[in-house]
Amino acid sequence: MGKICYSLLLMILLLGCNNTKQQAVPDQEITKNKIQSPLKRSIDRGAVVYKNLCSQCHRPNGKGITNNYPPLAGSNWLTQKRLESIKAVKYGLRGSILVNQKPYDGIMSAMGLNNTQVADVMNYTMNSWGNNQKQMVTPKEVASVKK
Ligand code: HEC
Repeated sequence: MGKICYSLLLMILLLGCNNTKQQAVPDQEITKNKIQSPLKRSIDRGAVVYKNLCSQCHRPNGKGITNNYPPLAGSNWLTQKRLESIKAVKYGLRGSILVNQKPYDGIMSAMGLNNTQVADVMNYTMNSWGNNQKQMVTPKEVASVKK
């Protein structure tokens, strides 16, 4: 009797262990991916684009460089001119502009990004350093912006 009880207990324990081992990890991964919204995933990809292609001028903190490179952090241009901003990143921008009442007259060349990369970096800049734009930029929207 004691032996049977012991074996049963052992079996239950082993089965229990097996179950947690086989199920816990995939479950956690599924939950993690579900929590990450499409916007969050786009922002994460955009952070990489920003670091590689934009931060040298607009700086990692998005504040730009006084009189030369306009800020993206708190930029009224970026918040109020959604389509012009997409256009600027897609095709480049030159000529005099006002950003937060300050004049800039520089040149930003087109960086050859595809529509997804433009959307990702826009979502990153529009949701960093206090910027908060939850209406996601999509590759489709970028595709619709013509020169
Ligand atoms: C070589 C420097 C340089 C790089 C790299 C660069 N920019 Fe710019 N950017 C500028 C300049 C200069 C202007 C202003 C152009 C003008 O005066 O007409 C500007 C303007 C802008 C504007 C509109 C004005 C504002 O401040 O809101 C946005 C948006 C912008 N850049 C985003 C980006 C993004 C996103 C990237 C990376 C994909 C990037 N820039 C890379 C130099 C740069």
